[in-house]
Formats: sequence, structure tokens, C-alpha cells
Amino acid sequence: MPMPAILSSARNALLTGIALATVAVLAAIAASGTDWIGFSSFVLRAIHVMSAIIWVGMIWFVNFIQHPAVVGADDAGRATLFRLVVPKVATLFRHASHLVLLSGALLLLPTGYLLASWVYGAPIHMPMTKALLLWGAAAGAVAMWVFVHVIIWPNLQIVLGAQPGSAEEKAAARAKVALYARANLLLAVPVTVLMVAAAHLF
Ligand code: HEM
Repeated sequence: MPMPAILSSARNALLTGIALATVAVLAAIAASGTDWIGFSSFVLRAIHVMSAIIWVGMIWFVNFIQHPAVVGADDAGRATLFRLVVPKVATLFRHASHLVLLSGALLLLPTGYLLASWVYGAPIHMPMTKALLLWGAAAGAVAMWVFVHVIIWPNLQIVLGAQPGSAEEKAAARAKVALYARANLLLAVPVTVLMVAAAHLF
């Protein structure tokens, strides 16, 4: 059976998925309308959730698949993983983490957590518990971002040989990457759950 063009590569499948989602949302808007606050909240939320899926997905992959594979591999296997897999995973989670932070920060406006009087033209009621859940999760998420960019990525560059380091320094860098990857796994659970709770509990 010939392969349909939309499934001939990951890129084509992704673009087709985006096109399907866009058509469905445009049809919904054409049918029922929306306003600028609703629309911007939706767009930012969609970007936020999709990039969070990629970031947290990579955290999951690194902890439960990549790290055990690196530990269990022989020298040749480890070199292959360091050349073909680890740099791509790192590029994905680094860029996804920027997008999560940026979309989350912008999403604070249409959802009323920040500058609500300016966005809505009048003060709005923000339940204290909802705000505490959101700001607590955001603080955890910022800590995760700092771990990625201040600890994990610089040490990963030593592990991968992109930055100089002796054998002992490489071993120490590997241990640090593994430790902070676990810290991010730990934080990813409450951050995600608290964000969903802030959005839907009330
Ligand atoms: C690991 C990092 C993060 C993850 C996994 C994450 C995940 C999520 C998820 C799953 C939602 C719920 C979407 C929904 O159900 O409608 C959400 C909402 C939200 N997030 Fe995040 N987020 C992260 C970081 C951040 C950061 C750093 C900020 C702000 C600086 C932020 C601001 C928001 C806002 C404002 C909402 C909407 C809440 C509402 O509708 O009441 N997020 N996030």
C-alpha cells in the first residue's frame, strides 16, 4: 500500500496535525465567535500546553529512558547516544523551556493574574487560593528553568565534550546532570498539577 504523503515524514505528520487543529478551531470560532481576550488566552494556552508537553516529556524521557540507557551502555553505545540522541534531546528541552516560560508569562495577562484592571478595564475578583496555586506553580517552574540553563546545560556540555573537562570533571558533571534532571522530574509533577488546579478547580 503506498504511504500517504502526510505520513511520509515526522515533519509532514506534524504540519498536518497543526493544520487539522487550526481548521477545527477556525470552524468553532466561525460558528460561535470569540473576543480578543478569549482568543489570546486560547492561543497562549495552546502554545503553553504544547511546549510544556514537550519539556515535561523530555524530562520523563531523560529520567526513565535516556539515563538508564547511558548507564547500561558500553563505551561505543554511550558514544553513539552522546552523538546522536543526547544533544537533540537537550536542544528540544532547552527551547521548549523558553517557550513555556514566555507563553506562561504572557498568559498571566488575559487570565487576570497580572494587570487585570488594565486588561479588563476594571478590577476583577481573583480568589486567593487560585492565585496562590498559580504563583506557587510558577515559582517551581522558574526554578526548573534555572536548573536547565544554569546547571544542566553547562554540565551537559562538559559531558558531551563541547566544553573542556578532565575525566573526574566529566564524571562530576554527569552526576550533576542526573541529579538536577531528577529534581526537575520531581518539580514537574506539582507544577503541572497546580497549574491545572489553578485553571480548573474554581
Ligand atoms: C514546567 C513548567 C510549566 C508547566 C508544565 C505548565 C503547565 C500548565 C498547564 C498544564 C496549564 C493548564 C492549562 C489549562 O488546563 O487550561 C497551565 C496554565 C497556566 N500557566 Fe503554566 N506551566 C508551566 C510554567 C508556567 C510559568 C513559568 C508561568 C508564568 C510565569 C505559567 C503561567 C500559567 C498561567 C497564567 C496559566 C493559566 C491559568 C488559568 O487559566 O487560571 N506557567 N500551565
